[in-house]
Amino acid sequence: MTGYIIREATPDDAAAILVHNEIIANEPDNGITRGPGENMTLEEEQTFLKNSLATDNWLMLVAITPESEAIGILGFQGGRRKANRHEGEFGISVNPEWRDKGVGSALIQHMLAWAKGTGFITRVGLTVMTHNERAFHVYKKMGFELEGCKRAALFKEGRYVDVYMMGLLLMDRT
Ligand SMILES: CC(C)(COP(=O)(O)OP(=O)(O)OC[C@H]1O[C@@H](n2cnc3c(N)ncnc32)[C@H](O)[C@@H]1OP(=O)(O)O)[C@@H](O)C(=O)NCCC(=O)NCCS
Repeated sequence: MTGYIIREATPDDAAAILVHNEIIANEPDNGITRGPGENMTLEEEQTFLKNSLATDNWLMLVAITPESEAIGILGFQGGRRKANRHEGEFGISVNPEWRDKGVGSALIQHMLAWAKGTGFITRVGLTVMTHNERAFHVYKKMGFELEGCKRAALFKEGRYVDVYMMGLLLMDRT
C-alpha cells in the first residue's frame, strides 16, 4: 500500500470517484444511503464536481493515491438560502482496505479546516445509522455531538433503520 494525499476533487477525478463509489455501494450493510446501481453516470459526476468547485459552501474532498486511486471521499453541501448558508451536512466513505488507518479522520479534519477558513460556515451536521459504530466513534472523536434520532429514516436491505443526527458548532454561541 502506498501513501495518499487529500485534496479538493476536480471533474478529472470523476472516473476514480465512481470506481470508489461502486465499491462502497456494493458492500453489504454499507453505512451509506446509496445502494447498488444508484451511482451517478460519469457525466453527472463531472457536473456535480464542477458545481461543487463553483459553490462557496460546497466541498468535495478526495483521498487519492499516486496511482490515482480514490481511496476515500468526503462531500459537504451547505444550504442555498441566506438563512442556512452557514450550515451543511457531509457524507464520507473510505475504501474497505484503507479503514482504521486514519483516512476518515484526516478527511474530516480537512473539511473542518476548510469550513473554518470560509469565515461563514459555523455549523457542520451529519446523519449516521445508529448501528454504524465505527462512524459514530469517529464523529464523537472529532467533536460532533448527538442531537437526536430519526426513527425509521431509511429502508435498507429489507428493514427500517434509525439514524442519529449529529452536529458540531464552529462558533461560540451565546
Ligand atoms: C466510517 C468511515 C468513514 C471511517 O473512516 P476510517 O478511515 O475507517 O476512520 P479512521 O481510521 O480515521 O478511524 C476509525 C476509528 O474507529 C474505530 N473503530 C473501528 N471499528 C469500530 C467499531 N466497531 N466500533 C467503534 N469504533 C471502531 C477505530 O479504532 C478508530 O478509532 P481511533 O481513531 O480512536 O483509533 C469508514 O469506516 C467507512 O467508509 N465506512 C463505510 C461507509 C460509512 O459508514 N460512511 C459513514 C456514513 S455516516
